[in-house]
Amino acid sequence: MTDTIKIGLLGAGTVGSGVIKVLRENAAAIKARVGTELVIAKVLVRDAKKTRPELTGLAVVEDVEEILQDPSISVVVEVMGGTTPSKDYMLRAMEAGKSVVTANKDVVAEYGQEMFAMAEKHRVAFLFEASVGGGIPIIAPLKRSLTANRLTEVMGIVNGTTNYMLTRMAEAKVGYEQALQEAQAKGYAEADPTADVAGMDAARKAAILASLAFNTRISLRDVYVEGITRITADDISYASDLGYAVKLLAVGQDISGKGVSVRVHPVFLPQNHPLAAVNGVYNAIFLKGNAIGEAMFYGPGAGSLPTASAVVADIIEAARAKIGGSLEGLGCTCYAAKPLCPIAEIESCYYVRLWVDDEPGVLGNIATAFGNAQVSLKSVIQTKPSVEGRTEIVAITHLVEHRKLNEALASLRELKVVDDIRNVIRVEKDRG
Ligand code: NAP
Ligand code: HSE
Repeated sequence: MTDTIKIGLLGAGTVGSGVIKVLRENAAAIKARVGTELVIAKVLVRDAKKTRPELTGLAVVEDVEEILQDPSISVVVEVMGGTTPSKDYMLRAMEAGKSVVTANKDVVAEYGQEMFAMAEKHRVAFLFEASVGGGIPIIAPLKRSLTANRLTEVMGIVNGTTNYMLTRMAEAKVGYEQALQEAQAKGYAEADPTADVAGMDAARKAAILASLAFNTRISLRDVYVEGITRITADDISYASDLGYAVKLLAVGQDISGKGVSVRVHPVFLPQNHPLAAVNGVYNAIFLKGNAIGEAMFYGPGAGSLPTASAVVADIIEAARAKIGGSLEGLGCTCYAAKPLCPIAEIESCYYVRLWVDDEPGVLGNIATAFGNAQVSLKSVIQTKPSVEGRTEIVAITHLVEHRKLNEALASLRELKVVDDIRNVIRVEKDRG
């Protein structure tokens, strides 16, 4: 039996410092569960001279070679973020026979195939539970506990920053910029928060979830993405008046006869949908399988300790694999090659907010533009007073293909009486 398993930690920021804390505080229980002690041998940071009380007693290095070329280190934990140089460091660690644990969805979503190939070649583990849903266990359940199912849908709130922002905008009526600053101050946002608000962080997670759920390789470029940058207080207020919550959703569907659709976009969710009650930094992943029916995984989607909970669980998994000498169930699960369903063919209901001339016949013109594109309207409302001869109209459509909605929007843009299409947001049907 190995006395200790030595870990090289790449990064000691929000997640890295959480990993150190969890490994320290739960050392005795972890040792009892694994059968051996897990010890952080070295920590890589950019600036080793910076005062960091949380690293007291640890060997802090600035040169990654001190970890990659240290034969006593058998598990490398990458929590630096970004693809360069993280991806290279992880590949080199695996080449050197070390298992790799990462929280890095950028690398998993864009280079997953290459990472798995390297892990397989060198018979080491490549684990990434924290890359989706922060502390929520979802990768391991998809790889193990749900494998009896044919999964047809995986739909989730997978970005803590945007869910926190949308919740604050809806509940405390704070503005977009303030909500973003709060999320950054709490350590939820990426180094460049554009990845959060533009939907790219969620898109990477959607690609990872769909690859695992449908056993087919989905890369970031396969995901249709819209972020929350166009959502205003007005949209949130209309949603609330109409009985909806606004959420940024990651959606994956394996549609019989059409292929796999993976997308990220804001949605008006009926208040009675289980995901509508997921607020703040919480994330949830809702899925449908032909045996389990519907299931939802819920928990904190970002933050130091919740994310460290997932990272440390993977470290334990890697340690167990090393002790037991088996990588069974830890490898790539993409054995199929399913076609992608184009976004143009995906059906949804839509909320369309228009700024129009307030004059007779305008509603008729708008209805005709929708009708000519075969878009059927469920309701049209005008609740705000006219301002300088203009007013706001909100139309909710019935189910329509994305391609037809776009035809209607193009016709609306041509109308003289339509001054602006202020926003277009999908509406999830009421669950009844
Ligand atoms: P962070 O707070 O910015 O920390 C990054 C750490 O990596 C810092 O210690 C930094 O060193 C070090 N680092 C970065 N580039 C480096 C380089 N080239 N060489 C050496 N050290 C380098 O980031 P984080 O929030 O912990 O996120 C880390 C990863 O976890 C990302 O992939 C992120 O997407 C993922 N993740 C984060 C969360 C969350 O809630 N924050 C949740 C889930 C997943 P210095 O301290 O010297 O600058
Ligand atoms: N920036 C990410 C989020 C961190 O807000 O969800 C967790 O991956």
